[in-house]
Amino acid sequence: MRRRLLPLPMILWALLGCATPDPSLKRTAVDPATIANHLAQGLTAVPSVSRATAVLLLSFNRIRSVSQASFPEGLGALRRLSLGGQLTRSLQIGGRSFTNAPNLTSLDLGGNGQLVLHREAFAGLGELESLFLDSNGLDEGVLESGLFRSLLSLRSLVLTGNRIRRLSPDSSFRNLPSLRSLDLKLNRISELCGSDSDALPPGLSKLDLSSNRLSYNQWPSSSSSSSSSSSNSSVCPLGSAVNLTLEELDISLNPLNLQGAENFFRAIAGSRIQRLIFRHTVLGRNFGFRNLGDPDSRTFAGLGGSDVRSFDLSRGFIFRLNPGVFSGLPRAESLSLAFHKINRIGKGAFLGLARLRTLNLSHNLLGEIYQEGLESLRASPLQHLDLKSNHIGAVEDEAFSGLRSLRTLDLGDNALSRIPRSRIPGLEHLLLGQNRIGSSYGIQHFSPGLISLDLSSNRLRDLGELGSLMQQLHSLRFLKLSRNGIDRCLANPGALPPLSHTQLLSLDLSRNSLGEAWAAGSCLDAFRQLSLLRVLNLGSNRLSAVPDLQDLSSLRSLDLSGNSLRTLPRSVFRGLGSLEFLSLTDNCLSTLPPSLLPSLPALRGLGLGGNPFVCGCGGAGDGSATRLTRWFVDNNVTSLDLPETVSCASLVDLEEVSIDSLPW
Ligand SMILES: *[C@@H]1O[C@H](CO)[C@@H](O)[C@H](O)[C@H]1NC(C)=O
Ligand SMILES: *[C@@H]1O[C@H](CO)[C@@H](O)[C@H](O)[C@H]1NC(C)=O
Ligand SMILES: *[C@@H]1O[C@H](CO)[C@@H](O)[C@H](O)[C@H]1NC(C)=O
Ligand SMILES: *[C@@H]1O[C@H](CO)[C@@H](O)[C@H](O)[C@H]1NC(C)=O
Ligand SMILES: *[C@@H]1O[C@H](CO)[C@@H](O)[C@H](O)[C@H]1NC(C)=O
Repeated sequence: MRRRLLPLPMILWALLGCATPDPSLKRTAVDPATIANHLAQGLTAVPSVSRATAVLLLSFNRIRSVSQASFPEGLGALRRLSLGGQLTRSLQIGGRSFTNAPNLTSLDLGGNGQLVLHREAFAGLGELESLFLDSNGLDEGVLESGLFRSLLSLRSLVLTGNRIRRLSPDSSFRNLPSLRSLDLKLNRISELCGSDSDALPPGLSKLDLSSNRLSYNQWPSSSSSSSSSSSNSSVCPLGSAVNLTLEELDISLNPLNLQGAENFFRAIAGSRIQRLIFRHTVLGRNFGFRNLGDPDSRTFAGLGGSDVRSFDLSRGFIFRLNPGVFSGLPRAESLSLAFHKINRIGKGAFLGLARLRTLNLSHNLLGEIYQEGLESLRASPLQHLDLKSNHIGAVEDEAFSGLRSLRTLDLGDNALSRIPRSRIPGLEHLLLGQNRIGSSYGIQHFSPGLISLDLSSNRLRDLGELGSLMQQLHSLRFLKLSRNGIDRCLANPGALPPLSHTQLLSLDLSRNSLGEAWAAGSCLDAFRQLSLLRVLNLGSNRLSAVPDLQDLSSLRSLDLSGNSLRTLPRSVFRGLGSLEFLSLTDNCLSTLPPSLLPSLPALRGLGLGGNPFVCGCGGAGDGSATRLTRWFVDNNVTSLDLPETVSCASLVDLEEVSIDSLPW
């Protein structure tokens, strides 16, 4: 229903032809001349349109019913028809209404509040690929009365936001040969029905059951022993187990509690599901509650034979990871436990995850990492571990050791005050941004083979850390040291023993106070050894002078924005023969040295906005900004700033001085 409330996005959505949730669906380019746009025109009947019409948009009108007579013969060119969101809030579709438009591939009847479908409503639509029946007040009868049986090309059926209570389609549904995606979000389904595999088409790959009423507290519902509830729990005729074969099953936002989840997974035991999405669960005892339990080895046991490769269990209330809780997922390669309340990882929590490559524990409440918590991961081929946004302040020695396949470790946004003492020799990418780290001490032991390191937003104060990192991490290519408050230089990186093999390609030192370090005269040659460096960011550093850059012969991009530069010495960019992008935005420059362009033969983009330039602004009508714009064009350089930010501050009358004679 939500998608119908705002006509405008809907119109754009319809015009842009985005009505295909399944990207594998055919998208044929439509000649604009063949679109008949009759959206929101107060129409009460289908207007007559040209035979060439390929797209007919009739949403948001006042049409109450359509029949075979509504669409006269000769609409063979029609591919897409939308009749969604009629303002009458009800629409009746008569038998064989669309038989004169046999080439329809997409039909949108969604958002009509109350849709009444004749048993033969869809007869003759053998080419139809997408059918939208969302928010139409439909109940389970829509799946149980053979309505779709002639839709032999149907790939995607959207039934979001109806009143469907069970998934027990009639036998014709199973015979839809092309159906891949069935969207049943926001319905009232409390149980899946059907014995063995006779419920759903064998080709179905994606089933969305999110936001329904699956609870399975009482499963099996036919069992007479569980008569404690007075509710009608026998939704299914037989209450039998379901055997699904799917690429993706989404059961997010259902009221499955611990027992319910266990029952549900037992009810679908034997199903093959590659990607299981179970987000926003009510599972877990939460922080501070003791009456509820956390999942244990029984909870997901029913999935044992299901071949689940990817399990997204993010967003819920798990507090403690119990031993063997995921042992029912022996083939899982990716597991997300992001956004829970996990505070403790029990010994053996990851037992049985023999194929796990990616583990996401971000946004939890972990304060400490103990050896026993991660030990059970040592048997997994784990490559990516995300521990971002916890409260990790303490890491037991060797807690990360033994993760032999680990390539990426995200420990950003935690409370670490030093590099943990462990050894991960294969680690390539380490994210330690937003911690309280004051020194890079121990980094070489921790991860000697790093390719990228993020140490932004920490507490490193000394530019000497740069040299120390370069000396220790010989494979390092990408380094972020922004937002550290670096304002001094105790050990000059430039003065260290020369490195024969610095690999560094990108260095971000923005938002420090390097100006203070350099104003004191120390370490002006800090970048001497970085001959392969391509990207250097020195933005927002209170620089009043540019440090020595002449060895950076590979540099492509230099950011000096947001500093306090007033003038640029003649030879400042000498040696930067490869520089393509230079930002001098937001400084205090009033002139540029005449040698600027000649010394930068490769320059393609230049940022000059936010500087108080003095330039030869002519008389009325010849605005200074225009002159600067022309200057960019004449010199074949693109402005990196919006044109309006590049202007002259002092409108001094220099009429007789041509811009070429100014000291640019
Ligand atoms: C449907 O489309 C096909 C191919 O574009 C075309 O050959 C055929 O004539 C169309 N059908 C009708 C009834 O126009
Ligand atoms: C329980 O639900 C079934 C299926 O919807 C229905 O046929 C039956 O009448 C209901 N029984 C009660 C007692 O409500
Ligand atoms: C489930 O269905 C698949 C294929 O349809 C079949 O191979 C498998 O044996 C069935 N499993 C059970 C437990 O019935
Ligand atoms: C972990 O999950 C969060 C939240 O869903 C996501 O933003 C992040 O990209 C995930 N991390 C990895 C490594 O996939
Ligand atoms: C401007 O630069 C482009 C590529 O950056 C080049 O192809 C073009 O020839 C240049 N034009 C002039 C007038 O120098």
